Amino acid sequence: MNGVMGYACDVANDVGLPFMYVRTISACCVLVFFCLTKLIESGEIAFAGNDLDTPIKSIPGMEGLIRRRDLPMFCRTRNLSDPILNFYLQNLPEITENSRGHGLILNTFDDIEGPILAQIRALCPNLYAVGPLHSHLKYKLAGQSSSSTPCSNSLWKEDTSCITWLDSQPPKSVLYVSFGSLAVMAKEQYMELWHGLVNSGSRFLWVIRLESVASDPTEIPLELSKGTEERGYIVGWSPQEEVLAHRAVGGFLTHSGWNSTLESVFEGVPMICWPYFLDQQVISRYVGEVWKLGLDMKDTCDRVIVEKAVRELMEDRKD
Ligand SMILES: *[C@@H]1O[C@H](CO)[C@@H](O)[C@H](O)[C@H]1NC(C)=O
Ligand SMILES: *[C@@H]1O[C@H](CO)[C@@H](O)[C@H](O)[C@H]1NC(C)=O
Repeated sequence: MNGVMGYACDVANDVGLPFMYVRTISACCVLVFFCLTKLIESGEIAFAGNDLDTPIKSIPGMEGLIRRRDLPMFCRTRNLSDPILNFYLQNLPEITENSRGHGLILNTFDDIEGPILAQIRALCPNLYAVGPLHSHLKYKLAGQSSSSTPCSNSLWKEDTSCITWLDSQPPKSVLYVSFGSLAVMAKEQYMELWHGLVNSGSRFLWVIRLESVASDPTEIPLELSKGTEERGYIVGWSPQEEVLAHRAVGGFLTHSGWNSTLESVFEGVPMICWPYFLDQQVISRYVGEVWKLGLDMKDTCDRVIVEKAVRELMEDRKD
């Protein structure tokens, strides 16, 4: 069962079934969830003052690594009765208290989240790190079938014309831009991102999912349509694993969802992180500061900052 559906464990207990929790978020965020009560006791949730750069002290293994701004967004609440905070508090996996075969399965692996997994194991010894699942699936299918059709779990129709476009671009010259299946951005953020991308001079492949921008801009400045026509390609949805594996792709501007992060790490593509919610705030900090696989742009969306980050990733630190 999914770890946010804590009520299901009562049902399993009633009917005498052993159960395992499965979480699809990163282990670093699972550890934050395990420590929510501690964070409240220490006053780090519902914190005083406005300084989001204050380091967090009460999560073992994360001392000196994460700041208030790197906790899941709902932890910024000023109010301990906040419904979202209480939803997560009520649905904490009760793995530590019970020994009836309870355990936790995570889509991660020791080479990337080893120190975090060690902390979680101390609370929950029956822990299985079985990821990255997308690569296991790929190898399993490759061994089984003679067809070369890639398998996809995508809910939307993938526009494969972007692969043809990538085929005609130089190696590692394209920034891939996608914010996953849920994130929605305001029109102002969309315009800042777009200006930043065009001003960076980089080639880009941008996934703009239907309804992922809150309201359509009324007019598009000429320099944006011109820059996009010259160096950009826009699709409604992409075959992401294929895109990240393409030789033309040199960077990924991402919402830092765990699947996207694993897929990017697996293909060796460095990231610019612009997290939207939940585990994405924690993951982007780990990408930038711990794993050193990219730049964390969280809490900013300004054309100058976007342009600077893209230039840094695609030019200055290309190698
Ligand atoms: C805190 O949140 C609760 C539940 O949403 C609400 O009823 C209450 O008015 C809030 N308190 C403050 C001080 O905002
Ligand atoms: C994340 O990856 C897994 C494994 O490939 C897949 O089953 C799942 O549908 C993906 N989730 C999203 C939101 O794309």
